[in-house]
Parts: sequence; C-alpha cells; structure tokens
Amino acid sequence: LRAPPAQAEPLWWERATATLKRHAAHGTPRYVYHPGIVRRRARELAGIGAIDQRFFAIKANPHPGILRVLEAEGFGFECVSLGELRHVREALPGLSPERILFTPSFAPVDEYAAALDGGVNVTVDNAALLRAAPGVFRGRRLLLRLDPGFGEGHHEKVRTGGREAKFGLPLDGLPEFLAALREVDARIIGLHAHIGSGILEAGHWREVYARLASVADSLGSVEVIDVGGGLGVSYEPGGDRFDLDGYAAMLGEMKATWPQYRLWVEPGRYLVAEAGVLLARITQVVEKSGVRRIGLDAGMHSLLRPALYNAWHRIENLSRQGESEGEPAEVVGPICETGDVLGRRRRLPDSSAPGDLVAIGHAGAYGAVMASRYNLRGLPEEDLIEEPLDE
Ligand code: LLP
Repeated sequence: LRAPPAQAEPLWWERATATLKRHAAHGTPRYVYHPGIVRRRARELAGIGAIDQRFFAIKANPHPGILRVLEAEGFGFECVSLGELRHVREALPGLSPERILFTPSFAPVDEYAAALDGGVNVTVDNAALLRAAPGVFRGRRLLLRLDPGFGEGHHEKVRTGGREAKFGLPLDGLPEFLAALREVDARIIGLHAHIGSGILEAGHWREVYARLASVADSLGSVEVIDVGGGLGVSYEPGGDRFDLDGYAAMLGEMKATWPQYRLWVEPGRYLVAEAGVLLARITQVVEKSGVRRIGLDAGMHSLLRPALYNAWHRIENLSRQGESEGEPAEVVGPICETGDVLGRRRRLPDSSAPGDLVAIGHAGAYGAVMASRYNLRGLPEEDLIEEPLDE
C-alpha cells in the first residue's frame, strides 16, 4: 500500500463533526449518508453526453433516501433480485418500469417471470435458463450478458469476467444460446457486460465495448449496449482517483464509432462510497504481547469489506481531532473471529479511550447492505443527513 501524503485533503465528514456527533447520540454503530455528495457524483456522470441511460446498481446502497436523490437526477435502477425489485418499487412508487434493469445471476426462474411481467428490462446469460422455462421467455425482448473473456477490479473476488467467474455467456457459447433463443422466439435487443468492481483505469471498457459492438453488429437486433458499472473510487488519501475524463472521452469515441447503439451504464460504488461514513465507539483499548488494539462496537458484522477483501478504509478518532498520530494499533471489532479487523497499523492518537467516537470513511458503498446479524449483535442504523452541509 502507498504511504498516504502528510497533508491529506479533509473529507466532508471530517468537517462535519458536530453533525456526526448529533447522529451518534442516537447510538452506534451507525451509517450516516450525505445526499449532496451522491448528487454531485450523479451530476458528474450526467455530464457525460455519450451515455443515454444511467442505472444505479442498488446493491451498493439501497437506502430509500439515496434512491430518491438518484431518481430525481434521472437515474434508473439496476436490481439483481426480486427483493431489490420490490424495494425499488416501494421506495419509488412512480418509477416507470423502463427505468429498471434486472441483471441477476443464477436466480430462480420465477424471479425472471416476475420481472418480465412487471415490464422491466431483463438480462439473461445462459441457454439453460431459456430451455428450463420456455414459457417465461417466449416472445420476449431481452438483454444478453456476455463474458468478454477478462475481468478487472480491486480484488479477485469482485472480478466478474473471464473463465473463473460465474457470470455471462462466453463468446463461444453464442451459437447454442441463439438456437435456444429461436426456440422460444425471443429477441436480443441489448448486450450487457460487467467485468468487475473498483476499476480506476478507463481503458478496459474500450475493449468491453468493442467486443459487445462486434457481436451486436453480427446479431442485427441490438439497440442497446450496456457496459456495466465498476467505476472505482480512491479509498486512500492521495490515492489514484477514477479517471472520469478518460472514461468520458473513451465512451465518446465508442459512441461516435457505433452511433446506432444506445449506451447504458450501471455504476454503484462511484455514486455512494464517499457519501457514507460509519460511526462507532471505542469499547476498550488493550495492549497484548506488544500489540495495541483499539476495539470498536462496529466490526465485520457492520462493515465486511476489510475482512472480506482486505479493503482499506480511513479511520479517524473524531473525539480527538487535531491530536497527533500515535503508535500503530490494530482497530478491531467485537466479533468472535480473528479476522474481525477494520484497520491494521493505524495511528490513532495515543489518548484514544473508551467512549470516543470513531468514523470509518468511504463506507457508503457495500457497507450497511452487507452487514450481518453475526453473533446476534444487530444491524447498524442508517441516517440520511437532512440539513444542508458543505460538500
Ligand atoms: N452491474 C452489475 C451487473 C454488478 O454485478 C455490479 C456489482 C454493478 C453493476 C455495480 O458495480 P460497481 O459500480 O459498484 O463497482 N461488494 C464488493 C463489490 C461487489 C460488486 C458486485 N457487482 C465491494 O465491496 O467491493
């Protein structure tokens, strides 16, 4: 890991301590979201003229307040389960079904049936599905998810293309798929690919787009090309940021080469990661065999990403802002697993003590929604900041 620069730019939540303390008074662990940050990211993407429709991948953060912000910004919503479909419908009752995209993986066939009957856009990715339930797919207009043959992302567990990944139809599976498609008299009106998550370089999507477009040209029925989500954010202060300009320029070129296809994207993380902070309190500070551990009431049950992907999240002691960095310590949670570590070798102030309020940054994506009941500790609370705040 890159060493953070001495003077990292302060994040919104480091300047909103009073607001966060008010929220924390209602209990921790607690996620707090800043809608202004979501809106700002949404508008950045809206500024990319080549994109015809943006869908928010709600798996990253289905908080209804966030969905409402993105609906108002013109986003559609990408769902991967019947639960997510119902959730969007309930949170956004006026939303038209064309603004929903259903992209599940190995889902039960009745979920596909419900989505198709509801009039939403549906993506399929194998012939077995069509053969198992011909009645469900008969005469339908569908999107086809392709595996472009490679994956990308911040961790091997989030690369969703290539041989090891379970997603998408490989290009050599096309003839068999098309035969199954003809048997049910369905039509492919869109091609889809999502190669992975947490990608910072824009170049990979050029390859994805080119492969989808060449298949689209050969099929003749395609109206839409969806290049998925995967846009990364910089978790470390001073780390590489997503190359938004490069992304916009690349999509512009693709669109200029293939103007006949409408372009869809489905980002999750990029819109919400920085907007969320997880608040926790210090439970105990313990020195054991030369290792100092700062214990929190939040752990892998509240934010799984560090335990699952070794993900790095900024951790600050909000009760001791301005105090100098202390000796390196392990920041751990209260779960009965050795892997319940939120941060390794972190330099929180040496005065850090039980009751202090700690913030874990960039927790707005794949945070609360991946929390679990493990050890029966209860799920974290979630708040949307209502008052206007600096961005
Ligand atoms: N579209 C599809 C079909 C997806 O599977 C995903 C994410 C997205 C869009 C949105 O990807 P994003 O823009 O957020 O990268 N839990 C992991 C991330 C898993 C992403 C799964 N699929 C993490 O915390 O890093």
